[in-house]
Amino acid sequence: MTSHDAAKPWGGRFTQPTDAFVEAFSASIHYDYRLFRHDIRASQVHARMLARQGILGDDEARAIVGGLDQVKQELEEGKLPFSPRLEDIHMHVESRLKELIGPTAGKLHTARSRNDQVATDIRLYLRDEVDLLAEEGIRGLQRQLVGLAQHHVETVMPGFTHLQIAQPVSFAHHLLAYVEMLERDHGRLTDLRRRMNQLPLGAAALAGTPFPIDREWVARELGFDGLCRNSLDAVSDRDFAIELAAACSLIMTHLSRFAEELILWMSPAFGFIDLPDAFCTGSSIMPQKKNPDVAELVRGKTGRVHGALISLLVTMKGLPLAYNRDMQEDKEPLFDLMETTRNCVRAISELVPGITPRPQRMAALAEEGYATATDLADWLVRQGVPFREAHGVVGRIVALAAASGRRLSDLPVEEMQRVDERITAEAPDVLTVESSINARRAPGGTAVDTVRAALHEAWRRVK
Ligand code: ARG
Repeated sequence: MTSHDAAKPWGGRFTQPTDAFVEAFSASIHYDYRLFRHDIRASQVHARMLARQGILGDDEARAIVGGLDQVKQELEEGKLPFSPRLEDIHMHVESRLKELIGPTAGKLHTARSRNDQVATDIRLYLRDEVDLLAEEGIRGLQRQLVGLAQHHVETVMPGFTHLQIAQPVSFAHHLLAYVEMLERDHGRLTDLRRRMNQLPLGAAALAGTPFPIDREWVARELGFDGLCRNSLDAVSDRDFAIELAAACSLIMTHLSRFAEELILWMSPAFGFIDLPDAFCTGSSIMPQKKNPDVAELVRGKTGRVHGALISLLVTMKGLPLAYNRDMQEDKEPLFDLMETTRNCVRAISELVPGITPRPQRMAALAEEGYATATDLADWLVRQGVPFREAHGVVGRIVALAAASGRRLSDLPVEEMQRVDERITAEAPDVLTVESSINARRAPGGTAVDTVRAALHEAWRRVK
């Protein structure tokens, strides 16, 4: 046995050193170092619990807690060298602790395994990430959207279905649609946080521990809401991570749809908005170009996050209970998807206040495309015409206008009356964009007053 392998925490039964390639192949320190704060915090609470329960001496626990403070300090300052020989963050921390305080360090791992340790660390780590994403990220973005919407209740744009002009809507109403999507995203994060916030520590390797530990106390000290009830489940569950990946995937889907709209709207073909130079880039060949790269990158990075979700699902699907080393592969996708989602929420949040709408262009397009045709059909319905019949009448009127390249409002009433004599001189009043918008007063609709009320309500939720 080489002295190196004797130094490994699990080296006792080994007679040959680990193959150098295998060491590099199995090491995770180059990414799981991110867990160090949470790992040390959980270890300190574990050591204090062991002392409270008389499993460790008070002085031993004190030495461990103090030593861990120093290890944390060294890690914060980037002073602790990483080595694949020590595999992961847990072994790095413990081995450095041993260098600092001697053999007492070896008592920290009493009544614990790396299996319940890593399960605890990831939950603590992700819990912080969830709080940051929900309360700063999502809420912050909602505030930016509401802030922009406040100035644009009366800005009219064409609403689309099939990317064809459908009916006029208020620009604020359109923005508030995203506030709603993000509200559900916030709800999903809050909801999964409850399930995530259960303590695995105490499960040890898989079967529990014979030591008289106090899991409730540990749970309280670490801010968990309760205990994982089954030791096998505690060390092999990664649903909480998958749920979070799914919630982030939906957040990214929402951001991606918004990004897509910004890209379309900034194209001269739409010309609805301009974006700040600071959030666009030029072309190395075409001097006229100003490209919405930030929005495109958000749309592009969505694929990464969705991929990470699939990666986690597939990693877990064939694993027998309990812990398997495959599960170490959960971390890279998790870290990547959290960081990507956080950055994309930030990118869009910073972009939103820089959006400059072009209300004239939006209004002009809202006048096109027969966007108020439904209003004429609804007018006929109010005169007692069955909706299906009214739909047919207005369809023929639209065809008439289209054939001569005119808008509906350009058609004289007499021409409409030739299609259906039930149309009277009052009918064209409903064809204006303003009348169309303000007719939609039922809750959830785009009428100016309704949108003002919706804005008020949204602000109360996100402020
Ligand atoms: N680095 C490992 C992981 O992230 C820690 C758990 C190791 N446990 C074990 N039995 N080898 O999964």
